[in-house]
Amino acid sequence: MKRERAKMNKNIGIIGFGNMGSSLAERIKSAYKVYAFDKDARKTRNLSRIETARDIPGLVKCSDALILAVKPQDFAGVLAEIKDWIGTKLVISIAAGITTNHIEKALGRGARVIRVMPNMPAKIAQGISCLSRSGLASKKDLELADTLFTYLGKTVRIKEELMNSATAVSGSGPAYVLRYLESERVNINRIPQEKKSLFLNDFQKSAQGVGFTFGQAKVLTEAVFSGTVSFLKKTKIAPGELIKQVASKGGTTQAALRVLDGGGSLAEAVKAAKARADELSLRQ
Ligand SMILES: NC(=O)c1ccc[n+]([C@@H]2O[C@H](COP(=O)([O-])OP(=O)(O)OC[C@H]3O[C@@H](n4cnc5c(N)ncnc54)[C@H](OP(=O)(O)O)[C@@H]3O)[C@@H](O)[C@H]2O)c1
Repeated sequence: MKRERAKMNKNIGIIGFGNMGSSLAERIKSAYKVYAFDKDARKTRNLSRIETARDIPGLVKCSDALILAVKPQDFAGVLAEIKDWIGTKLVISIAAGITTNHIEKALGRGARVIRVMPNMPAKIAQGISCLSRSGLASKKDLELADTLFTYLGKTVRIKEELMNSATAVSGSGPAYVLRYLESERVNINRIPQEKKSLFLNDFQKSAQGVGFTFGQAKVLTEAVFSGTVSFLKKTKIAPGELIKQVASKGGTTQAALRVLDGGGSLAEAVKAAKARADELSLRQ
């Protein structure tokens, strides 16, 4: 999983300079020329070693590959804006629930698309990102996307059919860890091995319950656990407070937390998050 990071002579454009877009830009800027665009120009003001584009066509022109880091509800507008400029340049989307097929259809003309599902600890480079590619994206495209996301933590390549499961396991996963630590009143600086093993065993089985192999489930759940704990240690945010930040209204995490709040098991909660991700994908 740990891959050699070759410095590549590529220009990377990022649309959406929020949580994920800005984290990625800051981490990759030492190895790539980075261009950014956010509709709120204040977010990209006074950046160091990150170029700001005036508009989306300008950004696309400068970029060899484009990362779409806007919320799913803003996605259609961004696709419409890049459509006439993108040609066959690589598009990397991190939007939850939006399939490569949908993006290909919206962009037309042989669009090359990689889909990535990162998670919250990516903000401190302790995330885990799941990647899949569309039919027209090449192995080299996947390699580039993979390399970019190693700057935010670990990466795992999966089939697109498992992307909604990834959303439920690693995307929403930090909330399960936070809920467990909070309910068990665990001191994050001294997590008893027995408690950690109990949780991870349950979490791994839950991940297998939505289609991951034993090996994939182990890698994903261990990374989610360690990334979330590192995030808490680094930011000193209380687990209860962080849960509020990661559970957006109507999203997959909220669907899972509702099950846990109602006394459901972690396996049921993960299934509910996956069902919500499936529902959101169908709305496209
Ligand atoms: N955060 C996570 O932990 C996480 C995990 C996995 C996947 N993701 C995915 O990552 C994507 C970004 O999430 P995020 O948390 O980084 O969101 P975010 O903090 O809201 O960042 C998105 C940014 O894009 C801007 N934007 C909206 N429409 C735009 C447009 N047409 N052109 C340019 N910029 C535009 C937003 O501006 P305004 O705020 O003014 O609207 C905002 O600054 C989402 O699709 C999400 O599903 C996030």
